Amino acid sequence: MFKFSFPNKLDKKVPLLLPVCSDQIKTVPKKLLNGLSKKQTEAVRAALRKGVPDDGLLPVYSGDATVLLMLLAKEKSLKTRSVRETSSQIFSAARKYKIDGLTILTGTLNDELVRAMREGIVIGSYEYNDWKGVIHKEKAKKQTTLKSVSFTGNKTAGESKRLLQLQKSIALTKDLINCPPKTATPSYLEKKSREIARQLKDVKVTVFKEKELKKMGCNGILAVGRGSHEESRLIILEYKGGGKKAPIALVGKGVTFDTGGYSLKPSQYLESMKQDLGGAATALGGFYAIASLGVKKNVIAVIPTVENSINSHAYRPDDVIKMYNGVTVEVTNTDAEGRIILGDALAYTAKKYNPRAMIDMATLTGACAYAVGNDFTAALGTNNDLISKIIESGKEVDEPVWELPLHERYKKELDSPIADIVNCSKLKAGTVEGGLFLQHFVPKEINWCHLDIASVAFDESKKQATGRNVRMLLNFVKKY
Ligand code: BES
Ligand code: MN
Ligand code: ZN
Repeated sequence: MFKFSFPNKLDKKVPLLLPVCSDQIKTVPKKLLNGLSKKQTEAVRAALRKGVPDDGLLPVYSGDATVLLMLLAKEKSLKTRSVRETSSQIFSAARKYKIDGLTILTGTLNDELVRAMREGIVIGSYEYNDWKGVIHKEKAKKQTTLKSVSFTGNKTAGESKRLLQLQKSIALTKDLINCPPKTATPSYLEKKSREIARQLKDVKVTVFKEKELKKMGCNGILAVGRGSHEESRLIILEYKGGGKKAPIALVGKGVTFDTGGYSLKPSQYLESMKQDLGGAATALGGFYAIASLGVKKNVIAVIPTVENSINSHAYRPDDVIKMYNGVTVEVTNTDAEGRIILGDALAYTAKKYNPRAMIDMATLTGACAYAVGNDFTAALGTNNDLISKIIESGKEVDEPVWELPLHERYKKELDSPIADIVNCSKLKAGTVEGGLFLQHFVPKEINWCHLDIASVAFDESKKQATGRNVRMLLNFVKKY
């Protein structure tokens, strides 16, 4: 991760990044070139005259410091999202053109777009190299890495702090998801949660181990975790940001690896199942952002965490589990495990904290990506006000959320011949089924929303976590 600063004066030796809109190429506005030397100005004009590719980054050499042109769409049609996305490529472009420090000019972009550009640069600097070995290290020696970025403009220390905390929070979420499952276990999540609590003031952490979970009656968490050598946990972080109001609860599914259990996943579906702690990672990243930026709200993060694996103690199809709130569940599929651990966590959180809003996040169903595609998070619940505020918060930061029907008429699908409900039925709308199951563990009076993030948490093409929804959560909590 690089250092960034907001200096008062430009350092003439440091390369510059200049955002240029496609309609500024033919007739270059004077204002655009503010801050460039004479040589740089001429070279940039010449490069623009020559014609440049539509979208991307282009270095211009003049004898003075390099100017990296960032080419954007027409000024009037610029969207924060595309500016953020193009800006996220600056880190790798700097590597390509051997630039180790950059001063960012704002060009003619408005404040909102400048903000998006800064976020894009900072977030795009993320790399996950913890497991790279000697081969990578040899290569890295020869490469240039962008180490410092200074932003011009009249921004203050406040912006610098915001960017740093945002960078750390999103990296926390991504690191947890990217980390191999042999390391990222339930006790690892405990360790990370304790680190967060140690680092931040006004944060308290409580961890329930198996012995306590048994006393409490969290038999759902225990059942799913029983097939693994790794001990299960229920982790609770509490942040007191202000006032006496009840907290907002962020509940995250923390299945550190999902084999499917005895309802074993076929091999192509096992790959990437380290992402199944994505809900927990997002709740922790969001919580970290909120607490480290000192948002004046009370917030808790609740993480039920297990490994869903197989041994002779593992739970089986046909088992019946008596959950924390007394509801009994017939296990019809051990691969529908997330809803079981969340059931206990939701019921416990509602009873213990009576939160003013309870949002759970989970990589709950493969069906989610079929329902909403890879750019949307699915939202389900019965509280229209809460759901519309979440959708609005997502829209504002370009992390879109779409509502699916959590409708009464499907409820009977979960009827069980032996227990209160089954954990898996034949409803084709798998994401809706997951939401209907969870609803049994949330008292009616609680403002609750379930977010299925299985569609967005992990980028299958890059095999990398996305960090999605951390910014959405921060934005939501600030306003709610
Ligand atoms: N963790 C999976 C869902 C998942 C799939 C997340 C792909 C990310 C990418 C979840 O525990 C699961 O196995 N769900 C089953 C539910 C079914 C058994 C009702 C699924 O989606 O097949
Ligand atoms: Mn599963
Ligand atoms: Zn799972």
